[in-house]
Amino acid sequence: MNFSLILPNLDRPPASPQFVNCYSESSQGQAASAARELAEGLSAGAATVPPKYFYNALGSKLFEAITGLNEYYPTRTEASIFDAAHPQIARALAKAGIAQPSLIDLGAGNCAKATRLIPHLQPRQYVPVDISVDFLRSAAQQVQTAFPALDIVGVGMDFSAGLALPPQVQAHDRVFFYPGSSLGNFSPDQALTFLRHMADPAQGKARGLLLGIDLVKDPATLKAAYDDALGVTAAFNKNLLLHVNALLGADFDVAQWQHVALFNEAESRIEMHLQAQCDLTVRWLEGERAFRAGESIHTENSYKYTVASISALLRRAGFTQISYWTDPKDWFAVFWASV
Ligand code: TRP
Repeated sequence: MNFSLILPNLDRPPASPQFVNCYSESSQGQAASAARELAEGLSAGAATVPPKYFYNALGSKLFEAITGLNEYYPTRTEASIFDAAHPQIARALAKAGIAQPSLIDLGAGNCAKATRLIPHLQPRQYVPVDISVDFLRSAAQQVQTAFPALDIVGVGMDFSAGLALPPQVQAHDRVFFYPGSSLGNFSPDQALTFLRHMADPAQGKARGLLLGIDLVKDPATLKAAYDDALGVTAAFNKNLLLHVNALLGADFDVAQWQHVALFNEAESRIEMHLQAQCDLTVRWLEGERAFRAGESIHTENSYKYTVASISALLRRAGFTQISYWTDPKDWFAVFWASV
């Protein structure tokens, strides 16, 4: 009988993920700056709430539900492109001189998309990055169980503020993985800045980006994806108000607000708003804001690109080699861009 099959190998203990928290502020400091940011957005002439506040525990679950809706085509379309194109993607990485990639998963969440990619790309290191470290812990542990030899470094950071990764992240062969058309939630100017951070030589030798981005299509299909018949996206949008109540001590009454999604053709973006259904005043600890019936809070943009417009943005950011794959209907695109 060969005991090495059943006894743990004491020379090499099973790897476990490391975690790095890049927040400089204490949790109290973070709560205070969130409250300041929210009060400022709500007090602005045209009220806004930054979209990162969608993602409290319930918000993350509602978003997961959105990705399963028939109307919300991006998730399944992107998955089908990855399934079909992974051999070509692996070849594109090799062509860019990337042999032992560190796969840096921006907004990793439950790490499900990367988990499907890892067997094909065979990274040396996997770096799930998310605004919520707590959510990352269990997800990264599951990835470790599936790939025991993989070096995993979970990073808690708000990468919308910059992309300075901690020293535990390998300083060469960095492959940024940014799926789900999350880049579209930045304005094109912000997106350009963010892409420049990824293409920057500060990211080390041989670097590239694997990007999933939603494409312009007929407005009815676009609008339905953000205003589904079951009302899950409406619940996701309104849940933001519950999160603001908790963070700011505000008294939003969800029943007084309506979810509105529209396609702004001039800006090539879906806009999500919450519209007051009557005249009302929202109060919080140190302030208040009156809304007239019909007045709204702009909660999110989702920019839609064409293959030409996103290619141009990638080039302006400093990427020189660009390949892409789409689905048969040209609804969604996966891009590989390297420097
Ligand atoms: N980035 C995706 C998109 O714009 C996911 C997303 C962000 C989303 N916020 C959303 C989806 C709100 C539906 C509703 O599609």
